[in-house]
Order: sequence, then C-alpha cells, then structure tokens
Amino acid sequence: MYVPKNVVTNHDLTRVMDTSDEWIQERTGIKERHYATRFEETTTTMGVEAAKIAMERARVSQSDIDFIIFTTISPDYYFPGCGVLAQRALGIKEIGALDIRNQCSGFIYALSVADQFIKTGMYKNILLLAAELHSYGLDFSTRGRNVSVIFGDGAGAVVLQPTEKGQGILSTHLHSDGSQAEMLSMINPGFHAGKFVPEKRPANPDQPYGGLFITKELVEKDDVYPYMDGPAVFKKAIIKFPEVIVEALAANDLQPSDLKLMIPHQANLRISQMVQQKLRLRDDQVYNNIQKYGNTTAASIPIALCEAWENGRINDNDLICLAAFGSGFTWGSALLRW
Ligand code: ACO
Repeated sequence: MYVPKNVVTNHDLTRVMDTSDEWIQERTGIKERHYATRFEETTTTMGVEAAKIAMERARVSQSDIDFIIFTTISPDYYFPGCGVLAQRALGIKEIGALDIRNQCSGFIYALSVADQFIKTGMYKNILLLAAELHSYGLDFSTRGRNVSVIFGDGAGAVVLQPTEKGQGILSTHLHSDGSQAEMLSMINPGFHAGKFVPEKRPANPDQPYGGLFITKELVEKDDVYPYMDGPAVFKKAIIKFPEVIVEALAANDLQPSDLKLMIPHQANLRISQMVQQKLRLRDDQVYNNIQKYGNTTAASIPIALCEAWENGRINDNDLICLAAFGSGFTWGSALLRW
C-alpha cells in the first residue's frame, strides 16, 4: 500500500467548509485522510509506489509480470487509462494493460478478472493496481460537504500467481443493478448530453457538431463534482454487503464463523458495523481502517488487506473474505484461503 504523506484531519476541513469533527466521526467514523501532494502525485504515481512494494514482496521483477490491471475512478487522463501509464513508469515490456472502472467494487471485479486469467493458465504473474486521487476534484465548499469529507487518496497493489488447489482465491461473486446509477455518480463531464438526466441537458450550442462534452455552462455552474444520495446508498449497501458475503460462504460450504477476517470496502464505519451485526461476526473478525484513510474507493480493500497482513492479522491458511458495494450500483465478494 501507499498513502501520500499529507494527513488532513476533520478539523482541517472545518477551515474550508461548514462541518465539524463530531458530525464526520458520528456519521462515518472518519478522523483523518491522506491527500496527494499537489502537482507531484497522481493516481498512477501512487499506484506505482504500491506496485513496487507488492513486486518486491512477491519477489518478482518487471520482466516476470505478464499482465497489468489498473482499477480506479479517478484516472490521470480521460484516456488512455492508468494501466499504460503504470506500464511506462515501471518499465515493463509490451504486455497487456487493462483498466477497470467499477468504483468501490473495482478491486473485487479486478481480482475476479485476474483470477480467471490465472486459472485458465493464460498468465502467471498479474500485477493488479488500485489507486484513487479524489482530493484534486472534490467540491470543498459547504455545498459538497456530504461527499468531500468522506473520500481520501491512496493506493494498494497485489501480484497474483497460480497456487495449489484449495489455496488462494476460492471464488468471486459479482453483481450490479443500474436502476439507481445516478444515485452515486459523477456524470459531468460526459458524453450523455442530458439523455438520462434531462435537467442536466446542456443548452444547444450554436454549432452542429460537438460541444456537448464540456460546456461553458457546466464550468460556469461549477457542475463537475460527484453526487451522492447518502441515505439511498446506505440502505442498499447494508442489504447487498451481507448478501454477497453469505453467497460466497455458501458457494464454498462455509459459515460466517469460519472466517478469520472479513475486509469490507471502507465505505463508512456505520455500514461495516451493520454488516458485522447482521452476520454476527466478532470484532476480531472484521478489519476497519476508514478512521485513518477515509473512503479510498477502489484502493480501500488492498490498503486494508496490506495493513491487516502487516499487523499479523492474516496468516497462512486463514479464510479471508473481501467484499464491496458502491456506485453503479455494483457489488461483489471474494473468498480467499491465504
Ligand atoms: N458536515 C456537517 N453537516 C453535514 C455534512 C458535513 N460534512 N454533510 C451533510 N451535512 C448535513 C446536511 O446538509 C443535512 O443538513 P439538514 O438536515 O440541515 O438538511 C444533514 O447533515 C443530514 O444530511 P444527510 O445527507 O441526510 O446526512 P446523513 O445522515 O444521511 O449522513 C452520510 C450522510 C454520512 C453520507 C450517510 O448518508 C451515509 O452514511 N450514507 C452512506 C453512503 C456512504 O457511505 N457513501 C460512501 C461512499 S459510497 C461507497 O463507498 C459505497
């Protein structure tokens, strides 16, 4: 894992918006988060820092890596994706590089894709990077406070290799429901021209072609930020998180009591606590670190996984469940025998 050195506390945020440490801690559990160093760090540079550590720990070099997967919702460029930027930065040969955009469940989706490539024998060393740089693009005025206090910057990475049957990734389970896609979204700039959200339809530009991706109107209205209907997300998350964890356990004939550790996407401490209650998991069976990092979207699970492993909470043969829910809505789980 890699997190930038700048720590921003809830108190620091009270200097730029109308909020309080009590409100943020009570609703989300977050105390502080890390923000990238402006003009120096990007999603790719953070992902690459995490990747270097992962490769060193997996004892693989650049020439061993045969596929790259990069998951993020805050890419350096609209295109090309961060996969190729990571390939360039790490000096890896001309292998495939795939970008995955599945928001908070991006790491689970990426893990599932990597798992299929490994299990079919197509690749032997897949480098999977997950990184987010939210702080450059959030609305730090009071208008955006319900979203901006939640998110943080950071990265995690893993190297995936074949292993013995019964070890490693036992199964992955992916789901989506686009009926509430805009409930947690950043739709501008985009190529939708207001099709699904008529009130966001740009005024007709005085030109026959183009002019519908970024309009002056959007910039003048400052309408280029993420939107979240917090209560709607909360309600769906506390149903789908436990459901997809139980699905993974049932698929492997296992029970919640068999889990050594459940690492949920760090969306919100209250969501994790409700999931824990529903599954009747003990405190020592759930890993939370949102207090220190905020919600780092696709990077939150690998950051938590890394920290849990470094703290001795994960040992050989432990049964670990990773689970995520987020924008889309998309959700998923992965069951691992470490
Ligand atoms: N500081 C102070 N007050 C705030 C802040 C803030 N940062 N943000 C919102 N408020 C105010 C609102 O303006 C509102 O004031 P009003 O009653 O005067 O209108 C009041 O607090 C309640 O606002 P809600 O948005 O209804 O707040 P809620 O109690 O639902 O809490 C929260 C918001 C924390 C986002 C909650 O809905 C939630 O936990 N939702 C789950 C979504 C989530 O966790 N998303 C994480 C990202 S998505 C993912 O990873 C799955």
